[in-house]
Amino acid sequence: MNRLKNKVAIVTGAAGGMGAAEAKLFAEEGAKVMATDNRETKLKAWVQAAKADGLQMEYAVHDITNNEDWKTIISKTISLFGKLDILVNNAGIYPGFTDCEQTTKELWDKVIAVNLTGSFLGCKNCIPVIKKNGGGSIINIASIAGLVGGNGAAYSASKGGLIMLTKDIAVTFAKDNIRANAICPGGVLTPMTEDLIKAPGMDEIVKNMSPQGRMANPMEIAWAALYLASDESSFMTGAEMVIDGGAVAR
Ligand SMILES: NC(=O)c1ccc[n+]([C@@H]2O[C@H](COP(=O)([O-])OP(=O)(O)OC[C@H]3O[C@@H](n4cnc5c(N)ncnc54)[C@H](O)[C@@H]3O)[C@@H](O)[C@H]2O)c1
Repeated sequence: MNRLKNKVAIVTGAAGGMGAAEAKLFAEEGAKVMATDNRETKLKAWVQAAKADGLQMEYAVHDITNNEDWKTIISKTISLFGKLDILVNNAGIYPGFTDCEQTTKELWDKVIAVNLTGSFLGCKNCIPVIKKNGGGSIINIASIAGLVGGNGAAYSASKGGLIMLTKDIAVTFAKDNIRANAICPGGVLTPMTEDLIKAPGMDEIVKNMSPQGRMANPMEIAWAALYLASDESSFMTGAEMVIDGGAVAR
């Protein structure tokens, strides 16, 4: 408990899946958390329940691709909680597997806009605020699709770009005591994947996805995000933390 005492965090894409797990865990560990998503209903319901349980949280509707939305969210966070220490760029979309030949320009633009530009806007707008506070931690939720090929053109490019954005921030802003790390999950059971895994033949595909032969649950990613958000990871920056049941070790 209290691994994030006196810290303030923004977590995007927090209506469900990994974002909800990260936001709730951070609040349970003492952080004040602004949970955001572009879908209000689910977000509002669970954050209100968490607040009723005594967690220090607020929620806000937020499209990460909109620069003005970022300014509003940051102002709201500062006015409610006084500062910002931690940003988790978790929101993202998966368009299903489409190789380069099948990928339309529209699909490419959409995936890059959310997964890469949205997270870039988060970093760009939060860095000055975190800097003012004497430093902090940025955690970008990438994917093993950003490390190895064969997971779809736009999605892989967006996550590979996010990993390099993370490294650039780590190198550039170390002098400001800002750390930036990427988490690269393999398959995780979340609303993003729940329909995909119902398709015929998916049991076998999941078994072969990694040596562990299963998908992760969102908490297995949230615990890693907690470590990266906390001062326990103070010498860790510019890294990609792979959490994939051994998938890319083969
Ligand atoms: N589930 C997996 O297998 C897996 C694997 C590797 C990486 N990831 C990444 O992990 C992150 C979390 O994914 P998840 O599996 O929890 O999926 P999810 O679909 O449950 O959560 C993603 C959230 O992002 C929100 N979102 C989408 N576009 C947005 C926008 N423009 N503005 C604000 N919010 C937006 C969605 O509403 C959703 O609540 C994503 O970046 C995803 O690419 C997922």
